[in-house]
Amino acid sequence: MARTGRVGVGIVGAGMISEQYLENLTRFPDVEVVAIGDIDTERAAASAATWGVARSGTADDVLADDDVEIVVNLTIPAAHVAVSTAALRAGKSVWSEKPIGIDRESASGLVSLAASSGLLLGIAPDTVLGPGWQAAKRAVEAGAIGTPLTAVTSFQWQGPDIIHPAADFLYAEGAGPLFDMGPYYFTALVHLLGPIASVVATGTKARDTRQIVVGPRAGEEFPVEVPTHLSVLTSFEQGGAAQSLLSFDTPLFRHGVFEVNGTEGTIVLPDPNTFGGGHPIRVARPVTEFAFPIENPWETLVDEEPGVGRGLGVLDMARALRGGGAHVATGEVGYHVLDTMVAVEESIATRSFVDVASTVDAVPSLPEGFDPFAATLTEAVTA
Ligand SMILES: NC(=O)c1ccc[n+]([C@@H]2O[C@H](COP(=O)([O-])OP(=O)(O)OC[C@H]3O[C@@H](n4cnc5c(N)ncnc54)[C@H](O)[C@@H]3O)[C@@H](O)[C@H]2O)c1
Repeated sequence: MARTGRVGVGIVGAGMISEQYLENLTRFPDVEVVAIGDIDTERAAASAATWGVARSGTADDVLADDDVEIVVNLTIPAAHVAVSTAALRAGKSVWSEKPIGIDRESASGLVSLAASSGLLLGIAPDTVLGPGWQAAKRAVEAGAIGTPLTAVTSFQWQGPDIIHPAADFLYAEGAGPLFDMGPYYFTALVHLLGPIASVVATGTKARDTRQIVVGPRAGEEFPVEVPTHLSVLTSFEQGGAAQSLLSFDTPLFRHGVFEVNGTEGTIVLPDPNTFGGGHPIRVARPVTEFAFPIENPWETLVDEEPGVGRGLGVLDMARALRGGGAHVATGEVGYHVLDTMVAVEESIATRSFVDVASTVDAVPSLPEGFDPFAATLTEAVTA
């Protein structure tokens, strides 16, 4: 019998980012977090107690839970495909943190498995589902900057060892600024400029080892396995081009550079790595005559992005499950972004342009007025 009412969610991976998910998923009325699992079952139990979640245990416990319809996979990147595959095989739809996986073969197998099982597969980031980003996307599609042509993005800082108690995984194969931060920037570019056709990139590494700085493992040295400063040029199927800096090797902290240049203006967007952005979404228009300093006329599209955070993609999937519709942050987009990032690695290794074999349809927007706090599916998951 088809299920109705609120959608039951089970979390696998009770680490750092689970806090942000739980804060929102326990407030959105259309979903109910019913179970949390982790290899570390004590961590899962502590998280369940903090957030008032009924059950906790291992990942298998979550996958065996009849009330769970969507498994939210918040494990580390190297475990993503295995956990997502097991969840699909258990008959659950899956939302996975980014990246979808760390190699093309297993990730494309995951996308095929979801399609053949009739289950939904959603891949982070959902920052681009925030109301500000969605408003900006609609404005660009409505011609706010004329024809979008090119983009400039930048994310640079000294690296996440300063904040993450398990920072070693962020410098391992399948992470680094490319796989850890790239999904935000490449996903946002695909949303605005369409599928990526080819890449060319350089990548360097400032240090061969780093140290964990915070938490119980502070002082522990670990290897840096991947490039930590990348300059990437992307060409888009529709003809646009973008340049992206992704770095964990610059003492200067500067993020939030995301600009798309069109024939009639440049739109300055918030950092797709965040929901808040911290600045309005504005469009710079060309000046009509030269006077120094050049002062572009500015038009504000969105004053301030309202504070909604991680979990929007899960909610969009939950409503799609009940309504039979499509959701926005699909496995196909997640795979295309992974394909792009692997192509970047190949470009660095071969010092050449690399074509991106996969493609995606134009990414839809969320329905206008999408309200995460609206109760549209009222029946409780558990009686
Ligand atoms: N930390 C952040 O700020 C942040 C931000 C956005 C996205 N993410 C993404 O979220 C994911 C998790 O990151 P994190 O920072 O929370 O990591 P974390 O190391 O803090 O937490 C990961 C958790 O997953 C558990 N785990 C690992 N493999 C497992 C498995 N096979 N089965 C069950 N549990 C397993 C670990 O025990 C741990 O509790 C990553 O994909 C990361 O890219 C993290």
